[in-house]
Amino acid sequence: MDTSASSSLSSHVSTQAHALMTAAGYDNAHAVDELLADLLTADETTTPWPSQISDDHTPVEFSLALDHGQRPTVRILAEALAARPSLAANLHAAQHLLERWASRYSLAMGQYQQVADLFAGAPPDSQFAVWFSVVLRRRNVPRIKVYLNPQCRGTRHSVALVVTAMRRLGLGGAYPALQAAAIQPGGRYSFLALDLHHGPRSRIKVYASHAATATDADAARAAAVVPGVDTDEVTTFCRLAAGDTLGSATSRPLVSSYTFVDGDSCHPSGYSLYVPIRSHVTDDRQARDRAIALARRYGHDAGLVDEAITAIARRDLAAGVGLIPHIAVRLGDRAPGLTVYLSSEAYRVSPPRPRTAFPPMSGPTRPERSGSSPEPR
Ligand code: TRP
Repeated sequence: MDTSASSSLSSHVSTQAHALMTAAGYDNAHAVDELLADLLTADETTTPWPSQISDDHTPVEFSLALDHGQRPTVRILAEALAARPSLAANLHAAQHLLERWASRYSLAMGQYQQVADLFAGAPPDSQFAVWFSVVLRRRNVPRIKVYLNPQCRGTRHSVALVVTAMRRLGLGGAYPALQAAAIQPGGRYSFLALDLHHGPRSRIKVYASHAATATDADAARAAAVVPGVDTDEVTTFCRLAAGDTLGSATSRPLVSSYTFVDGDSCHPSGYSLYVPIRSHVTDDRQARDRAIALARRYGHDAGLVDEAITAIARRDLAAGVGLIPHIAVRLGDRAPGLTVYLSSEAYRVSPPRPRTAFPPMSGPTRPERSGSSPEPR
């Protein structure tokens, strides 16, 4: 069965993972193989699953995180799929994988166990049950993070679900300010993410997606509840990443995330903003240029950003849009960190938009994508 679609997905993804890790200076690129083998077990030939991880439904997304004082980090966001995927079966597969990883990597499961029952629903209209983020490291075992879905019992219950989870995690005091800042009209909680490693730097993150029409001012308002965050920088980042097309109803949403570490019971200590840059460029050459400009702005290795993009790309950058789905900035008590997300595009490339898609200033509304694949949300 070596010619099956599932083994071609694995080989596509692992070739990219090796290239990206090598570009980022890892000398243990094959350390990712076992993780990918654990994650990519579904039989994609008979039952492809419309994973919402990426626009073309590849159940994996790469990212390169740049932080001052640390070496660049390669991460993989992935959905564990059952051999015959369905939401319920995938939830089961994810729980099973988590048990194996918990013993193999000595994961800290306490916080997850405090809230897991809240997120065990899998109604048919939900987008996903559990996602994983794997942070690859050079010498040590990978760090694993689990993403839970606040929408898993329907949008009506999502706020209550997040409040309950935050209370159980000792963050009840931080909730009111967070809710007011993060959930503006049209916004919603999108993920609750838990680091599964031991130690004081293990984090809890709450993610909120803004309304599609949200602008840089809304992002700045969302960021303002986090002490020490420069809200002008939030605005600038939005403009540099998205150009002047933010706020159009057909864009994908800006996403804010709030980071809590041990001892943060009343205030988050970090804020990140994720700009869906693919909604704001005609093609990936333009997205690459913006990513490089942002890396330079924050004093990160712009050449590495370029190499990372080349490591993942299987096509000319001008020949599609969405290879760089998001670009994110991390703000708080340290110098800004930058993360560039990279799509595997194992299944499909979205064609570039016509240059006229972004007329200067406010033009007519445009279709978000020219392809026929279903929208992720
Ligand atoms: N593809 C989904 C989206 O664009 C989920 C997702 C994947 C995402 N990576 C992300 C959302 C990074 C925000 C940031 O919404």
